[in-house]
Order: sequence, then structure tokens, then C-alpha cells
Amino acid sequence: MKLFKLLTVLLVVTCAATLVMAAEGGNSRKGKYLFKKSCKPCHVSGAEGGELTPLKKTQKQWDRFFTDDKHKSKPEALENFSDQDLKDINQFLFDHAVDSDQPETCG
Ligand code: HEC
Repeated sequence: MKLFKLLTVLLVVTCAATLVMAAEGGNSRKGKYLFKKSCKPCHVSGAEGGELTPLKKTQKQWDRFFTDDKHKSKPEALENFSDQDLKDINQFLFDHAVDSDQPETCG
């Protein structure tokens, strides 16, 4: 019984450590949520930004979009995102880019 308790504690600590590590870089799952919630309203077909999915670009192009381009065609669209939000969205788009292991159309 004591061993079980110890294992549970270890498991919790390991999970917490993993979460912290993910938050330092980009968190793809959070990025997906943010992308759907905050980018998609302008980026479905017929909306002002036009349809946009992770598949529209390569991993390199997504990274460049966040480091250099920064939504040049409409910079104010990124104003309400924190640096962490943008990291998360960048991670999601990168992870599912057209040349990624898991290309994804939904978003
Ligand atoms: C307020 C509306 C709005 C929001 C919110 C918005 N965009 Fe845009 N986006 C636009 C408009 C308008 C354009 C320019 C479309 C054009 O030039 O035809 C654009 C263009 C783009 C482009 C260039 C299209 C291409 O094919 O290269 C990318 C990439 C993009 N947006 C990504 C994003 C991402 C990622 C988010 C969320 C972090 C986002 N946008 C949020 C309106 C928006």
C-alpha cells in the first residue's frame, strides 16, 4: 500500500514536470483550441481572411509567418494574443503543416 502511494506521487510529479516543459515551448493542443477560437472566425471560406488550415504552409513557412511576417497583411489581428498564445498556435500549425508527420486539414 505504501509503495502504491509512492508510485502515485511519482506519477503526479512526472506529469506536472511534463506539463511545465510543454508550456515553455509551444503547446500544440492549446494552439489548436486558440486557432479555432481566435483565427478561424476570419479564416473560413467566405470570411475576410479566406480559408486557412495548417496544410496551407510548410513547417518552415509557418515559423517564418510568426517570426518575420507577423500577419503583415493585417497586423492588428495578432494584437490580442500573448506571446505564449502565439507560440502555442505556431506549434499547432507547425505540427500539422503540409510537410509534417501528421498533416491536418481541420482547424
Ligand atoms: C480580424 C480578422 C483576422 C484574424 C483574427 C486573423 N486573421 Fe489572418 N488574415 C486576415 C486577413 C484580412 C488577411 C489577408 C487576406 C488577404 O490578403 O487576402 C489574413 C491573412 C493571413 C495569412 C496569409 C495568408 C496566406 O495564405 O499566406 C495567414 C497565414 C494568416 N492570416 C494567419 C492567421 C492566424 C494564424 C491567425 C490567428 C493567430 C489569424 N490569421 C487571425 C484576417 C484575420
